[in-house]
Amino acid sequence: MTRHKKEIDTAINNFIGKKGALIPLLQEIQKIERYLDRETMRYVAEKTGIKLAEIYGVATFYTMFRLKPQGRHTIRICKGTACHVSGANRIAQTIRQELELGAEDDTTSDAAFTVMEVACLGCCSLAPVVMIDDNTYGKLTPESVKSVLMKYK
Ligand code: FES
Repeated sequence: MTRHKKEIDTAINNFIGKKGALIPLLQEIQKIERYLDRETMRYVAEKTGIKLAEIYGVATFYTMFRLKPQGRHTIRICKGTACHVSGANRIAQTIRQELELGAEDDTTSDAAFTVMEVACLGCCSLAPVVMIDDNTYGKLTPESVKSVLMKYK
């Protein structure tokens, strides 16, 4: 956690003592560290006097918080109904194979990519859809998703 201690201390000082500040504080720290690990949460508990269990509870309850390191690129594979019936599973399989991700892994060993499955991305007419960072790719096939990935490698 000490990677960005100074920035984290500044964030804590900005939020300390403010009511309802825990969520924005954790968001701010996540922006700095890219994710919230145990050590960081323990540090926040120490500095703020908020119980570690409470911090951990908030961090695990809200899906916006990430507890594990994230890759430089985030790949969101839509598994909503329209995408599911249009072959989202084959797209997901191809992506995982191309990135050589183990069955239990969601981030590549070089920390280049994190893959997650999400519900509807809101553009069902383009199914099957994948988002990489802020870019949306639709009407994908296993072949076309491979060339999309190449742009990010
Ligand atoms: S179900 Fe995939 S974009 Fe809606």
